[in-house]
Amino acid sequence: MKKTIICNQKMYLSYNDAKNLRDKLLEEDFSNVNLIICPGYLNMHLYKDFILGAQDCFYKKEGAFTGEVSAYHLSLIGVKYSLVGHAEKRRRDTEEEINLKLQAVIENGMTPILCVGESALEKEKGLTKDVLKHQIFSALDGISLNVNNEFIIAYEPVWAIGKDVNPSRKELDEVALYIKEVMKPSKIKDLKVLYGGSVNENNIKTIISDNIDGYLLGRASTKIDELKTIIKCTKCVK
Ligand code: PGA
Repeated sequence: MKKTIICNQKMYLSYNDAKNLRDKLLEEDFSNVNLIICPGYLNMHLYKDFILGAQDCFYKKEGAFTGEVSAYHLSLIGVKYSLVGHAEKRRRDTEEEINLKLQAVIENGMTPILCVGESALEKEKGLTKDVLKHQIFSALDGISLNVNNEFIIAYEPVWAIGKDVNPSRKELDEVALYIKEVMKPSKIKDLKVLYGGSVNENNIKTIISDNIDGYLLGRASTKIDELKTIIKCTKCVK
């Protein structure tokens, strides 16, 4: 199966930087992966020839919500995916808001990329699985999923995002299988479990695995050569 590669451009790129990167991406053939680009809102239209994802969304359809961008409005411009519960948003979003965002994404016909992950302290205390299970259950609370729709969970340990450390392949395999086990009762046919957190051209070979369905890239997704190396490496796996 093709790996899914999500490029979370965060707030790294100005309009011109995003345009330059877009032009370079258009020259490449990335047909060996499912490539999803999550640009900043201002740069979204630059990537209209790619599969688009949002870095976040707001759950209300429309109204007096200064500074927010609704899942509904994103869906109207052709955005197909949205991150929900990214660690950098979880600092401010409550679990209830994450649940409402997930619901809004689904209701508007988009695929959620639910981000989950434990902190360094939680890992140290051996709580990784408990934290993941809690985050998944609370995000899905009261939501009925269509078994035929794609659903993505990105395991992004907080201690690995924006740093230079990753879990080992063994740890990743264990977590990916655990998440799949937790999601089993949902009977989702197209469940993908991705990994994100400091993936780069140097470590991709050490964390690639048949149990991981793809990677969520931050910094590395903004550098064309690094992105190419990572994508090329995903070919080495069945
Ligand atoms: P990073 O970000 O690759 O820069 O660590 C990953 C993420 O936050 O999704």
